Amino acid sequence: APDPNKAIPRHIAVIMDGNGRWAAARGLPRREGHRAGAVSVEECLVACGELGVRYLTLYAFSSENWKRPQAEVTALMTLLTHFLKEKTPRLMQNNVRLQVIGQLAKLPQRNQRQLRETIEKTKDNDGLTLVVALSYGSREEIVDAARRLMEEAKTGAIDPADLDPETFSRYLHTAALPDPDLLIRTSGECRVSN
Ligand code: FPP
Repeated sequence: APDPNKAIPRHIAVIMDGNGRWAAARGLPRREGHRAGAVSVEECLVACGELGVRYLTLYAFSSENWKRPQAEVTALMTLLTHFLKEKTPRLMQNNVRLQVIGQLAKLPQRNQRQLRETIEKTKDNDGLTLVVALSYGSREEIVDAARRLMEEAKTGAIDPADLDPETFSRYLHTAALPDPDLLIRTSGECRVSN
């Protein structure tokens, strides 16, 4: 039987917060905290690959994050774009496949384009699947799924009487992903938000 002490989670999810507090504690601007967060993403990707973790979800930008000051939103989008562009060769080297979840249509065109490019380039990698959640909120995700289901019910493509948890989950952004086994919040806070 497998040794439970050596059991490796199949899917790890990380809420990337505490960057601002990390920077403040060092007398640095918030953006330096976000930058340090991006650096640790790379270490994390390599470690997950080595340990045999199959899926890593990073909650990098929530639907609520749009309410942050415009300058911070722009800085985060730039950091993300830069990271994906710069790191594509490293993703290839480490056999990482990129996927994204969230309301991507809300992102600047440039970021959407860059994401599509990296997703396409890495689609045949069969090591770790890196899922980056952008403009993501689980309530928004549920509403999006409900809206699509209602549209299909209206056209008669689906009968409301047939709806069950399995069918519903196929309408979520996470349809192709197994449920996370371990959720880490990097600030150390113990709560889930949206
Ligand atoms: C939330 O808490 C953190 C964010 C809104 C940004 C996280 C995103 C990155 C670090 C960008 C890099 C991501 C990838 C996938 C390359 P907070 O850090 O604002 O700080 P607080 O909790 O201390 O207020």
